[in-house]
Amino acid sequence: MTSRRGFVASAVLATPAARRLLPTIRVAASHDRMQWWREARFGMFLHWGLYSILAGDWHGDEHSAEWIRNNDKIPIDEYDALLTRWNPTDFDPDAWAAMAQRAGMKYVVLTTKHHEGFCLFDSAVTSFDVMHTPASRDICRELSRALRKRGLRVGWYHSIMDWHHPDYLPRRDWEVATRPADGADFSRYVQYLHASVDEILSNYGPIDVLWFDGQWEPTWTHHLAVSLYHEIRARHPDVIINNRIDGAGAPKGEELGDFGTPEQTVPAMGLPGKDWESCITMNDDWGYKASDHNWKSARQLVDILVETASKGGNLLLNVGPMANGLFPPEAVDRLDEIARWMKVHGDAIHATTASRFPATDRFRSTTTSRALHLFLTDWQPGVLPLPGLRTRPKSASLRGLSGAAARLAVVDHDGGFAVVLPPSPPPTLRPVVTLRFGGLPVVQA
Ligand code: GLC
Repeated sequence: MTSRRGFVASAVLATPAARRLLPTIRVAASHDRMQWWREARFGMFLHWGLYSILAGDWHGDEHSAEWIRNNDKIPIDEYDALLTRWNPTDFDPDAWAAMAQRAGMKYVVLTTKHHEGFCLFDSAVTSFDVMHTPASRDICRELSRALRKRGLRVGWYHSIMDWHHPDYLPRRDWEVATRPADGADFSRYVQYLHASVDEILSNYGPIDVLWFDGQWEPTWTHHLAVSLYHEIRARHPDVIINNRIDGAGAPKGEELGDFGTPEQTVPAMGLPGKDWESCITMNDDWGYKASDHNWKSARQLVDILVETASKGGNLLLNVGPMANGLFPPEAVDRLDEIARWMKVHGDAIHATTASRFPATDRFRSTTTSRALHLFLTDWQPGVLPLPGLRTRPKSASLRGLSGAAARLAVVDHDGGFAVVLPPSPPPTLRPVVTLRFGGLPVVQA
C-alpha cells in the first residue's frame, strides 16, 4: 500500500491482522520529514562522554558505564575533575563517518549530553563542556561536518535528566546531604534545557533527528514537554523527534514524538501503525566499558537488523567510543563484517518495508514495490516453499558475498510456489534470496 507521497506505510504491514485490513486502512497523514528516515532503516548510536574516561571502572567497581556517576555515587567534585582528562587525541570524525557509511548506516545519533551533564558542544550557557577541557574541540561541529560530507544524516541525543546542573531536580537521594537542593529552581533548569537545545539545533546546520532521553523523572511533565516540542517545531519543522521528549501525564492519544524507541529489543509484532526504531548495544553497555566482553557476533547483529527491517522498523546500533576517540576494536571488527554483508545485501534493507509473508521459520522478509527479499534463517538445500505467495516470480536469485547472483528455479508447490536452493549456501553471514516481479505481488497472509 503506497501513500500519497509514494512510500509504503510499512509499520501497518507488521501483523497478519493488520495486513487483512490493508484495503480499508487510511494511513495516517505521513509527514514528509519521515521519508528519508523510513528509507534509512539503519543508523549508528554513539555514547561518548566523561564516563568513557573511567571505562566502567570506579576504584575496582565495574558495574556501570555511562551511569557510573550515579551507580558508584561519585561526588560531583571528583566527577567534575574528569574535565581535565578529556583529551581524545585520536578522534577522527571522518573515520567515524566512514565506518558508519561503509556499514550501510544512513544516520548517526551522538550523545550531545548524557545524564552526567557534560556537553560535547561549545555551549554559551555552561562551562561543563568540551571547550573547557584540554582538547578544546567542538565534537558536535567536527562530527556534523564529517557526516554531511558523506551524505549521512545528523542526529543529536540529549538527556533531559542532568546530574550536574545545580537547578536540576530531583537530586539523587545519595547526594542530598553533600549537595543540598536548597535554592535549586527547576524552572531555571528548564530555561537552560531550552537554551542548550537551541544551541545544538541552531549552531550545526540542519539537524535531522533529536533523540531525547532521561525524561522519566516526575519533574519533567507533559506540559513542559509540549512547550519544548512546540518551540522546536516552530523553528525546525523538519527535525524528527523521538517519543522520549514526552513527560509525566501525557493524555492518551496526545503523546508526543515522531517515532517509538524500544530499547534493547525488537518488538515481536513491530509497532503497528507507528514509526519505530530499536536501539541496541553491540555488547551489554552503551558507554565504553573495558570489562564488558559480552559482544554479539556480527551474524547476530545482521540478524537483528534483518529482524527490525522485516517488521518495518529501524535499527540504531550503538558504539561506545573509547576516551582516546577510537572505537573499541571489537566494534570495528563487527562494523567491518556488517559492511561486507551490506555491500552485497544493502538493497534488501534500505527503502524496504515490512514482510508480507505469514510467519515462517524458514526466512525473514522485506518488501519493495517489485521484489520480495528472503533472509534465510537456516540453510536447508532443495525446496523452499513460499507460503501465501500467489504471484509467480519473474526471477529468483541467491546472492553470494561476491555479488554474483545465482539464478534459482521457481517451481509449483502446494497450490503456490517454491524456489529450489542449491546444496550449500553462499559464504555470507545471512544468505538472501530475491524474488522479482512485474509489480507488487499478491501474498496471502
Ligand atoms: C537508557 C539509559 C541510557 C541510554 C539509553 C539508550 O535510557 O539511561 O544510559 O543512553 O537508554 O536508549
